[in-house]
Amino acid sequence: MAHSDREVADVIQEVLLDEQAIAARVAELAERITADYAEIDDLVLVGVLKGAFIFMADLTRRFKVAHHVDFIALSSYNSGTESTGAVRLIMDTRTSVTGRNVLIVEDILDTGHTLDYLLRTFSARQPRSLRTCVLLSKPARLQVKVPVDYLGFEIPDKWVVGYGLDFADKYRTLPFIGALKPEVYQ
Ligand code: PRP
Repeated sequence: MAHSDREVADVIQEVLLDEQAIAARVAELAERITADYAEIDDLVLVGVLKGAFIFMADLTRRFKVAHHVDFIALSSYNSGTESTGAVRLIMDTRTSVTGRNVLIVEDILDTGHTLDYLLRTFSARQPRSLRTCVLLSKPARLQVKVPVDYLGFEIPDKWVVGYGLDFADKYRTLPFIGALKPEVYQ
């Protein structure tokens, strides 16, 4: 859904990462991942819906290694703006990951419960390797320590939208990552 300039100005407090900064970092991550998986021919990227759909699309188009693309959809149970830590599986991958090299692609690490759930779920499926690529991390909010192999940016503890991230399913398609004005979500 497109947003008018007026609507954006009304809800965005500040732009944390503009289009150029995101594109440059995504290119760097793609280059590193391409180098690390150069000898691998069965890489499976698993994008976590919905938030990771734009990051995944940009990242995968910059890869120079053969890979499969798949998605998983999860939702965290929230109480107001707070995660309860419980994660619900809505849609599983179609690809079997057993014996293959899996890279989970997430938009944001907040409390860490979602990535922790994913790592436990995929480990049980016995992939050959399992790594994580996360665009944004909010260290101030982390409750569960999870390994991140490829990280885009650390950000402050603000509600961010754009580039796939939402508030009440809005603002996902903004080209930048911006902090919402607190009065929008409080
Ligand atoms: C968001 C985000 C991550 C998760 C991170 O998903 O996309 O998957 O929360 O939070 P955590 O580290 O506290 O677990 P959300 O449940 O908002 O769903 P969405 O991606 O469909 O917007």
